Amino acid sequence: MIAEQSLTTYRNLITLKDGARVLLRLLTPEDRQRLIDLFAPVSSDDAKYLRNKVSNEGMVGQWVDDMNYSRVLPLVAVVQDRIVGDATLHFGEGPRRHVGEVRIFLTKDFRRRGLGSHMLRALIDLARKNGLHQLSAEIVAEQTKVIKAFQNVGFKVQCTYEDYFMFPDGDTADVVVLALKLISREEEF
Ligand SMILES: CC(C)(COP(=O)(O)OP(=O)(O)OC[C@H]1O[C@@H](n2cnc3c(N)ncnc32)[C@H](O)[C@@H]1OP(=O)(O)O)[C@@H](O)C(=O)NCCC(=O)NCCS
Repeated sequence: MIAEQSLTTYRNLITLKDGARVLLRLLTPEDRQRLIDLFAPVSSDDAKYLRNKVSNEGMVGQWVDDMNYSRVLPLVAVVQDRIVGDATLHFGEGPRRHVGEVRIFLTKDFRRRGLGSHMLRALIDLARKNGLHQLSAEIVAEQTKVIKAFQNVGFKVQCTYEDYFMFPDGDTADVVVLALKLISREEEF
């Protein structure tokens, strides 16, 4: 586990292909409203693919209030005091304690500019430094572009769970499971 101190001081200033400067850092308690503002305008198109009802301000606020870096490591992208992206690393427990699950969400005007790839790479780096052996991600199969974004940074498709995701209207969709090995099998044993 990385020391709490070095996590709170984690800073990664990146420049996107179009010249925009974005600060990657960890979410802090002071970001409560900023995180609510990131998720509040989510479109119904996006919302249907998300696991949580992120337009619920109380729930998003609770994420910040209950923040615990040893359970979930939340990396945010900040531009001029606004959070434009949130990528989280969810640590497994017990027999899954060597695995981290990755989730990511960017505001619409910061998509397709390379930010998602930067954030995924930064999260992979943090996962390595935390001693994790592998990362996983579960994405609704029809979100082929999102799957591509994960594959671009090294994730590989493992399997598909049929009808594993239920949309708000009750329809179901397949879910693709992706994984990224951070160490090889020889290193594990
Ligand atoms: C998925 C997401 C994180 C990708 O981040 P991004 O910054 O838009 O992606 P990047 O600009 O870094 O592009 C990475 C790759 O993703 C793929 N991609 C992403 N969006 C795409 C689109 N609209 N059209 C085509 N390709 C796309 C491409 O392969 C792209 O690589 P390329 O630019 O070399 O072609 C972002 O679009 C997002 O937050 N989407 C909504 C939330 C979501 O679905 N999250 C996933 C749940 S785990």
